[in-house]
Amino acid sequence: MQQISGARTLHRLIYCSRQRIAPHDLDHEVGEIIRASIRKNREVNLTGLLLVHQGYFVQSLEGPAEAVLTTYRRINDDPRHAECKVLSAGPAGAREFGDWNMCARGMSAADDAILRTLGQRETFTPESLSARAALRLLKTVRGIQSRTQLRAML
Ligand SMILES: Cc1cc2nc3c(=O)[nH]c(=O)nc-3n(C[C@H](O)[C@H](O)[C@H](O)COP(=O)(O)O)c2cc1C
Repeated sequence: MQQISGARTLHRLIYCSRQRIAPHDLDHEVGEIIRASIRKNREVNLTGLLLVHQGYFVQSLEGPAEAVLTTYRRINDDPRHAECKVLSAGPAGAREFGDWNMCARGMSAADDAILRTLGQRETFTPESLSARAALRLLKTVRGIQSRTQLRAML
């Protein structure tokens, strides 16, 4: 019983990976990834955010433990990226990205300044982020995304 309730507890996993997509295909492929992700994540109650920046992906997956792990294993096998590295994984008190079954966000030059203040100086090296810093990074991206969405609605 312990295992079953554990599997139902909210979990969050954050990983980073290197993109393996030709630059001119990136927008299209990210669109395809998000389309498939929204459909599949909705079925298993997963939410999250995907940062697409300087040749890297950084993604948060949150939901029931089993759904997080099954989905991460599938993502890990996807040839559109490589060198997946888990930055943080474990139980979470509450969803941080509950607004989206999945949402992709690139960073503009202005947003780059935010990354620099987060300690990701000239070159973006997410594989060196601690678990706390990885979550802080994605929460900052969440803030930018939410503000942009709000502006688009006004
Ligand atoms: C960076 C990246 C992030 C992805 N995120 C998700 C996701 O959140 N959920 C998901 O179901 N698939 C995600 N995918 C796509 C999966 O790898 C896979 O293509 C998709 O789930 C379809 O799997 P299927 O062909 O076995 O049905 C992601 C792929 C990449 C490269």
